Amino acid sequence: MMFARTSLRGARATHIQHARALSMATIDPSAIEITRTSSPKTKLPNEELSFGSTFSDHMLEIDWDHENGWHKPKISPYGALQIDPAATSLHYGLQCFEGMKCYLDDEDNIRMFRPDMNMKRMNNSMKRLFLPEFDGDAFVECIAELCRVDKDWIPKGEGYSMYIRPTGIATHPFLGVGAAQQAKLYAILSPVGPYYPEGFAAVSLLAGDEYVRAWPGGTGDSKVGGNYGPTILPQMEAAKKGYSQVLWLFGEDHQVTEVGTMNLFLMWEKPGGGKELVTAPLSRGDILPGVTRDCVLDLARKWGDCEVSERNVTMAEVVSAVDEGRIIEAFGCGTAAVLSPIKLVHYNGRDLEFPLANGQSGDMCQRLWNEITGIQYGKIEHPWSIKID
Ligand code: COI
Repeated sequence: MMFARTSLRGARATHIQHARALSMATIDPSAIEITRTSSPKTKLPNEELSFGSTFSDHMLEIDWDHENGWHKPKISPYGALQIDPAATSLHYGLQCFEGMKCYLDDEDNIRMFRPDMNMKRMNNSMKRLFLPEFDGDAFVECIAELCRVDKDWIPKGEGYSMYIRPTGIATHPFLGVGAAQQAKLYAILSPVGPYYPEGFAAVSLLAGDEYVRAWPGGTGDSKVGGNYGPTILPQMEAAKKGYSQVLWLFGEDHQVTEVGTMNLFLMWEKPGGGKELVTAPLSRGDILPGVTRDCVLDLARKWGDCEVSERNVTMAEVVSAVDEGRIIEAFGCGTAAVLSPIKLVHYNGRDLEFPLANGQSGDMCQRLWNEITGIQYGKIEHPWSIKID
């Protein structure tokens, strides 16, 4: 189908048309077309899998256009996308993605972990870019079918899983800055081992205010590529100085927000007494609503061993807590790494050391790791783990 190029003057009209189209044809998993590869690739042994660099034999694609809505989902051999060089995703960052995983349990069932949360967040990211929203359950059903087709690519064993990368892009060839009239959802699969080569080992961070990851009214709460590209320079600078990750601060008072590509949790004794597990709140729109973040909050609240808060914390509070010996532990969390204990933060010329009660992590981080990974691999029955066989 051919599309008339939108004039800049017509941008408002296009916008309205597009808004109407948001309620058009939905994704239909029952119409999925599957073309299997005739030349399967050789799989790597687990010990050679490094994060995100090996891909399975097939991929899922679902095109969208503003007149017809969602087209038939297609699973086909993994390969390069054909994309117009004028596609707005390549010029204006009209692109978003998700990170989710599936696992093989001891009975060889495929299990997904809280896919509804990823779909909710992805729809939010699509909306933020004025890309078409979609039926999350239907997209998960198509992704599940892709996982079934490539089941023999899911690596077995503790720490190993299939990383699923659903992606949304504008394919509309148009150099004006306006609403996309053509888009694509696709998903690829990458068998993975531990995100950090060092595994579940504590990391050191560099905190500073030279770079800001996100701000109120920005896109920090959406999983758009534009949030990630600009973090690479600060990350490389931190690595050159010997730190694994950047601790992102915000505001004149250096509020602690996220760590690398993860949410951050601190556990401490409050100045007036009482244990608190604290993370930055979602209310300002600059924090990614992490699925693992939500698991940590839910489990910690259920366990009830400490107060659990979503509130802003400043570096001045962190420094006082370190100086007064009140820090119990700190960790980052995200889909890729699950949990990542923190041993040190370099800030204002000082190395602030964080305790690691178990050598490489604190007690809370270790307990959360056992519980969350136990649920993910189906060792602990829980509604978060969805069998898709
Ligand atoms: C995650 O762990 O959730 C991430 O977003 C990491 C990914 C960008 C590689």
